[in-house]
Amino acid sequence: MAKLVLYLPKLGLCFTLLGLYMDGIAESTVSSNPSGIDFIRASCRATLYPALCVQCLSSYANTIQQSQRQLAQAALSVSLARAQSTSAFVSRIAKTTGLNPRVYQAVQDCIDNMAYSVDQLNQSVQELGYMGRGNGQDFMWHASNVQTWVSAALTDENTCVNGFADNAMDGNVKAAIKSRVISVAQVTSNALALVNRFATRHRAGAAHNIP
Ligand SMILES: *[C@@H]1O[C@H](CO)[C@@H](O)[C@H](O)[C@H]1NC(C)=O
Repeated sequence: MAKLVLYLPKLGLCFTLLGLYMDGIAESTVSSNPSGIDFIRASCRATLYPALCVQCLSSYANTIQQSQRQLAQAALSVSLARAQSTSAFVSRIAKTTGLNPRVYQAVQDCIDNMAYSVDQLNQSVQELGYMGRGNGQDFMWHASNVQTWVSAALTDENTCVNGFADNAMDGNVKAAIKSRVISVAQVTSNALALVNRFATRHRAGAAHNIP
């Protein structure tokens, strides 16, 4: 517990529930693995939000080491944890009374979108675990499932955000939900990029033992 508290401030946007779904991934202390951090920084350049990517993953450097697989696993787990806490947040905020009917409807739709997103990310975390170490059809099959489900999760998150696009809607509820879900969508987009990178490099490099 003390360790968790210690590194919370460094994680910034990534603090929520982090670690609770890191199936099989031990939490490691910050900055004790310079080469792991370099690997994370280099890999995160392939994402759309590299600073957020590094921020979310650097505390897992000891576990990730130089492994594309562990990197993808950590990124997906972080995305799932973020989606789940945001899903809970949207459900709580839906209880706000006196919402404008259009905002109310957008919030209800967002509850559904975020629930789908959580399910798809949860399935993806498990499916990534089934991606074997070979390079055959089995790997390709599981990789393509993960890519499909993470893309679907991202689409659901964007659908929630688009539900609030109407300028006639305003207010704190819209602003609070939008900013959180946009941030989750960024984390999910990063996870998808790292899953794609893992799948591509694994296929290209299996013969050369690239982890
Ligand atoms: C993920 O799936 C497992 C098994 O299907 C389930 O037990 C667990 O509650 C799910 N977790 C989340 C966050 O939905």
